[in-house]
Amino acid sequence: MKMCSYLRNILLLVLLNEIHLHTAHGQLSDDYTGHSNADSDENAFDPHNLLKYYATSQTTKEEEVYVFPPLSRLDPGDVGTIVSVELSPGRWFDRITRAVKPPIFEIPDFLSDEECDHIINSAARNGLGTSQIYGEDNEPDPNTQDIFRVSQQTWLNRNNLGGMFLDNLQNKLSTLLNLSKEIIKGSESMQVVNYLPNGHYHAHLDSTRNTGNKPCCFQSSCPTPPGPECCRICRYATVLYFLNNVDGGGETAFPLADADENTMTRFLEGGNLAHQWRNLSNFCHNSSVVIGPKRGTAIMWYSHLMEAETNYLGEIDDYSYHGGCDVTKGTKWIANNWINAATYNERFVKSIWVD
Ligand code: OGA
Ligand code: FE2
Repeated sequence: MKMCSYLRNILLLVLLNEIHLHTAHGQLSDDYTGHSNADSDENAFDPHNLLKYYATSQTTKEEEVYVFPPLSRLDPGDVGTIVSVELSPGRWFDRITRAVKPPIFEIPDFLSDEECDHIINSAARNGLGTSQIYGEDNEPDPNTQDIFRVSQQTWLNRNNLGGMFLDNLQNKLSTLLNLSKEIIKGSESMQVVNYLPNGHYHAHLDSTRNTGNKPCCFQSSCPTPPGPECCRICRYATVLYFLNNVDGGGETAFPLADADENTMTRFLEGGNLAHQWRNLSNFCHNSSVVIGPKRGTAIMWYSHLMEAETNYLGEIDDYSYHGGCDVTKGTKWIANNWINAATYNERFVKSIWVD
């Protein structure tokens, strides 16, 4: 009896080895390294039909091919819609739609006072430095002396925040956004920002347009901090937390949210309109969406569209321009969690943030 199962195991091993050898040059491994003409291949990965994908592959090795999880997107409904969502077991939160284009949501009390303090204290312990803008220096505008981003910032990871805190937050984010935990874990660290009076961040996009064929920074080995000559940012969504109540000012404003197409066209032409609207020291309260900084509130929005045919990262969403208005009194603390996502063509490339 013993001998019999021994022989069977040997037979199994030989068989598995055979399968392994046959798959070494198979369809899937080619896709992984080449990610070239997968689209024209009849066995190409179709995110809508995982079953077909597994059924048509001829080997047992497909599990080893990495595929970035497909995205999803929350339906905002109409402005003012409130949906009650259970973000951790037994804990329900209101998710309020503040805009439709792009979908912008406000989630009051997303973080508790203790959690806000924990983030602020961890940032202070880590030390903050002058904030920069991706790929640009932050020198004053020679005409107006205006500085685009005036704040101090730092990055916090698992070591700073603690494993339990981060796991809990990542679970909540995954549920809020309806995105796989893997996408959340594979995203950038948390950025904490502190503004003093006159501190602000004029209206900007959190992500970059898909021009040229630069890889996404979170999938590349570009130097830190990465610059536009090496990679693009690829932040599908932003979750911004207000960590304290501000004595004056410090709203987050979206000057183009739900704007009509005509306005957007004029804005994108640049010139005066764009210049005026982006300067939130002046334009803050003319913005279509202005959210006052309230401790514990999270704001969530998408900076990219989702590509409809593939469910991967689509075009940048110009309606997502936003920024932080001047703090007029006191200090303002926020934190950003940027959720990185892959394009369809780069779906076989892992995030550098996961092992
Ligand atoms: C940012 C940002 C807005 C704010 O840090 O990218 O948009 O209200 N901040 O501070
Ligand atoms: Fe931003």
